[in-house]
Amino acid sequence: MASCLYRYRRRILFFCLPCILLLPIYIYISISLIYVMKHGAHGSHPVLENLFTASGLRLSRDLAPHPVKSSCKSELNIGALWNIIQYMMDSQHNPILKTRLAAIPPGISYKIESGNGCSPDYEINTTMPDFFTLPTQMKDFVTSMYCREYPLIIDPLDVCDVGPLAKNRAPWLLLAIKTQSADFVNRKAIRGTWGRSGRIKSRDGRQRLVRRVFLLGTSKDLHIEEELQLESDKYGDILQWEFMDTFFNLTLKDVLFWDWFPRRCPHARFIFKGDTDIFVRTPALLDYLLAEEANGSFSNGSRQPNKMETFVVGDVINNAAPMRSSGTKYYIPESFFKGLYPSYPSGGGVVYSGSLAHRLLEVSQKVHLFPIDDVYLGMCLQRLRVFPIHHPAFLTFDFPKDEPKEPCANHTFLLVHKRSPAECSNCGPKCQSPVLNAEMQP
Ligand SMILES: *[C@@H]1O[C@H](CO)[C@@H](O)[C@H](O)[C@H]1NC(C)=O
Ligand SMILES: *[C@@H]1O[C@H](CO)[C@@H](O)[C@H](O)[C@H]1NC(C)=O
Ligand SMILES: *[C@@H]1O[C@H](CO)[C@@H](O)[C@H](O)[C@H]1NC(C)=O
Ligand SMILES: *[C@@H]1O[C@H](CO)[C@@H](O)[C@H](O)[C@H]1NC(C)=O
Ligand SMILES: *[C@@H]1O[C@H](CO)[C@@H](O)[C@H](O)[C@H]1NC(C)=O
Repeated sequence: MASCLYRYRRRILFFCLPCILLLPIYIYISISLIYVMKHGAHGSHPVLENLFTASGLRLSRDLAPHPVKSSCKSELNIGALWNIIQYMMDSQHNPILKTRLAAIPPGISYKIESGNGCSPDYEINTTMPDFFTLPTQMKDFVTSMYCREYPLIIDPLDVCDVGPLAKNRAPWLLLAIKTQSADFVNRKAIRGTWGRSGRIKSRDGRQRLVRRVFLLGTSKDLHIEEELQLESDKYGDILQWEFMDTFFNLTLKDVLFWDWFPRRCPHARFIFKGDTDIFVRTPALLDYLLAEEANGSFSNGSRQPNKMETFVVGDVINNAAPMRSSGTKYYIPESFFKGLYPSYPSGGGVVYSGSLAHRLLEVSQKVHLFPIDDVYLGMCLQRLRVFPIHHPAFLTFDFPKDEPKEPCANHTFLLVHKRSPAECSNCGPKCQSPVLNAEMQP
């Protein structure tokens, strides 16, 4: 008996020792699996690995993450009009959510779209109880926010080629600059400085075709509008739609530009979109974009074919909250929007790829208009799961305070805000010379 057991003990030991030794590994794997299922399901890591970090850049994730919750799951903020409309738009596109529409309290009627949504909504006061207490620009926005189709008044046909040779003659960089009708001075300065159209030399002498277009709504001053028409005849770079050119209508410039782009300039490789009161070192920007392109980021289709489609770079702002003090230009009442803004590149100046612009047009049709244009871009990027790249040389909030007297002359930047082109073009050899130095340290 004993010898029998002894015989079996050896066998038991032989078979079970490995099991016992492997036990910690099993436990480790199980715990890891549970952890991954709990925390990894949001998928932020796989998405991020797809992105690229250019030299001297940081992904915005290093500063703060995108909200990980997908917008579909966002809690229904009953009090906030934008959130409810967005929820309803999502439900239209998603049959699972459709069944949860009952969550919206009865008695509140929210329209999503009727026709093209361009007749004014006089019943808005029933869906937004504090409507009459809102500042004028918010009221104007809310009454017209279902409308995003406005006729073109001036359509510059020669900015890009659209004929059979369109692809070969496409601009490498298209500058799309937000300006207002009366802003003649800045447009003139931009044409003569950083916004020159034609083959522009980068720092190391490579030439790329740059084209320019100004984005405008209309003003009430007919005299100014007439002058603008003359300006357009002369330069052919005015793109104007028929809506009031106000701060809360700036988002229309984005969505209408995204709509114009595939028809008139579909092959542009990069788009710069920015304000008129900035200064851009275009040759340095070309250098930077050329380096990105050459780094196998997107020219090397075999490795990561979709990188070009996710390229957007700027001064990325993370975890911003809506301004709640009614005196400010950016005031967004709680009755309109609740929650944090997604990460967004500041609207002062941002560069994205042409192929991303095509995707933005598509996704923007599923995102309800928001009155602040750069936040709206962030909302669209979030839906595309595209993470904007933060670049420290995009100084959309001006130079750091303790700068020397002539910051333009002595600062490494690609873009700076609150400097008129005149101010910066007088500021030293580094700005004027076509060969700019562009060390881009983080
Ligand atoms: C090229 O891109 C990779 C990531 O895709 C990055 O690690 C590397 O630093 C980049 N190199 C240059 C010279 O930009
Ligand atoms: C909304 O405004 C209209 C007129 O603009 C008015 O007739 C109506 O009574 C208002 N409704 C509410 C609930 O205040
Ligand atoms: C935007 O433009 C439309 C059309 O001109 C106008 O009705 C609306 O009031 C404007 N919105 C804002 C916020 O100014
Ligand atoms: C694409 O990337 C591979 C590996 O990174 C490299 O060997 C190859 O030269 C690249 N091709 C081009 C056209 O850049
Ligand atoms: C430029 O910056 C350097 C170092 O910050 C400083 O020594 C120099 O005086 C500055 N030059 C001008 C013209 O401000």
